[in-house]
Amino acid sequence: MCGIVAYIGEEHPEKIIIEGLQRLEYRGYDSAGIMLANSDSYDITKVAGKVESLSNALSEKPAAKMHIGMGHTRWATHGKPTQNNAHPHVSQNGDLVLVHNGIIENYSSLKEELTNRGYSFQSDTDSEVLLNLIEDIQNREGLKLGKAVQVALQQVIGAYGLVVYDRKKPNELVVARLGSPLAIGIAEGAYFVGSDATPFLEHTRKVIYLEDYEMAILRTHKDLQIRNIKTDHKVAAYVEELKWNLENIQKGGYEHFMLKEIYEQPEAIRNTLRGRLLTKEGKIQISALNQHRDKFSNARRILILACGTSWHAGLVGEYLIESFARIPVEVEYASEFRYRDPIIYKDDIVIGVSQSGETADTLAALKIAQEQGAFIFGICNVVGASISRLADAGTFTHAGPEIGVASTKAFTTQITVFTLLALELARIKGQLSDAELRNYLFELENIPQEIEAFLEDIDHIKTIAESYHTADNCLYLGRGYNFPVALEGALKLKEISYIHAEGYPAAEMKHGPIALIDENMPVIVIATRKGHYEKIVSNIEEIKSRKGKIIAIVSEGDEAVKALADHVIEIPLSSECFTPIFSTLPLQFLAYYIAILRGCNVDQPRNLAKSVTVE
Ligand code: AGP
Repeated sequence: MCGIVAYIGEEHPEKIIIEGLQRLEYRGYDSAGIMLANSDSYDITKVAGKVESLSNALSEKPAAKMHIGMGHTRWATHGKPTQNNAHPHVSQNGDLVLVHNGIIENYSSLKEELTNRGYSFQSDTDSEVLLNLIEDIQNREGLKLGKAVQVALQQVIGAYGLVVYDRKKPNELVVARLGSPLAIGIAEGAYFVGSDATPFLEHTRKVIYLEDYEMAILRTHKDLQIRNIKTDHKVAAYVEELKWNLENIQKGGYEHFMLKEIYEQPEAIRNTLRGRLLTKEGKIQISALNQHRDKFSNARRILILACGTSWHAGLVGEYLIESFARIPVEVEYASEFRYRDPIIYKDDIVIGVSQSGETADTLAALKIAQEQGAFIFGICNVVGASISRLADAGTFTHAGPEIGVASTKAFTTQITVFTLLALELARIKGQLSDAELRNYLFELENIPQEIEAFLEDIDHIKTIAESYHTADNCLYLGRGYNFPVALEGALKLKEISYIHAEGYPAAEMKHGPIALIDENMPVIVIATRKGHYEKIVSNIEEIKSRKGKIIAIVSEGDEAVKALADHVIEIPLSSECFTPIFSTLPLQFLAYYIAILRGCNVDQPRNLAKSVTVE
């Protein structure tokens, strides 16, 4: 998956595109390229490296007056990350230029047909095949660019977010999307294009998110025309007003986006509760749930589909919903669900959880469930994202942009949404009295300030990180609500410090993992007062008797575990159902500081991208 930026207007596009690409590097950063054009010619620069090297390469070129351009920061899917495979690509006759995000699944057969018709290829990419297909259609059928793109895309199987330029018509850009997001920013006499809205935030707050199978021709001083690629019907443009400001995007003084986003969690949770947690009235207000109240209260089961950290949040959701609302819940990896021919009932409620709202596996799994009649409820962090638009209903986490590849505030805000859903469903189903609900609402309302208090004193976690940053392996243990947090803590450590880590239900130790315990194995145990406390203390004793190094996450004031563990990190005492929001915080910091000590790139870890929009 990659980042795309394009511009057509009166300003010189270079700075707009380069700065825009830098904001999109979390989507992929193994190679980058830019095309700048005016009415007479175009110029392309590409590098096998990050946007910074692209900018350096540009500075060596003579300046020229340009008014249109496109740029791309790549995450390789077909063809190695080389300069040759970097985008933009140029068609064989040199007329057409394209940047593309996605996968053309039938590119091999298309490439064979085009080769038989005399086309040769400069790269190993599927994107170049698509571009030459457009050229071939244009030549054979004498079509203008827009129509040729439309005809070509009707022959394509796969996913695309793309921008195409034709030097024969140097005052327009054609954009299209299927499966890979594309946002169009609208300004006076100019259009911006981005894989999301961050590249043009400071230029315009008016944005249109293309839907699947939609394309548009951008010409300055002309109204935007959106068409459906399959039906050729005109589509009314829905212009949204962006709420995010540029400051949200920048690091705000923190060394890394991840650290900024860890500290943003109190505000992110407040924003997620805002308008939904009506403590004075003793109510929860989730409009999407109210609109489909009967569907939820009569649901035979709830399926939760997600990937990665969002899947861990789904597991917490399972504990919350089953415990409070007594509705059966099953949580599945979307990537497994989509291929195992699952049994889906028409009265199933399927909750898709995704920070980006663009994860290919989650999107595909939800489509399968929807096609079989299930009701799709989305929990996303990005307004206008594909999953949020696919869903029959849904609610947003309001974590703000999460740029660090390692998900932090998205996780705690997803849990917050699940907590609201579980409590409201429990009320609807008569499982919770108004008085009990009110008590939970007051506690929930205070969580952000409890987190703020915790965040004021985390230096001891840095000290613990110093003791264990050279470890080769790590175990994370938790029970009940904190079993998913153990999985999440292990994922955080793996993905940013590259230390092998595994999360387990603590009781599972005796079924094998305890064989791993020795003096070289740090074991992080979540041992909060509420929730199987006595059992987890005995697990700690088992580990200690085998010389394991114990880092215990405990409730404030716990002296018993303090006497057993090598290190303790205290978190606020809370009801058992709220412990995941607190117990995840020290694990985020531990992973962060260990990764820093290991010299890892915390915001852009190796081999990873922020949003996996391809399989
Ligand atoms: C979590 O830190 C990772 N970035 C990854 O597991 C992520 O949670 C997963 O790819 C799902 O992404 P989504 O929430 O955007 O769907």
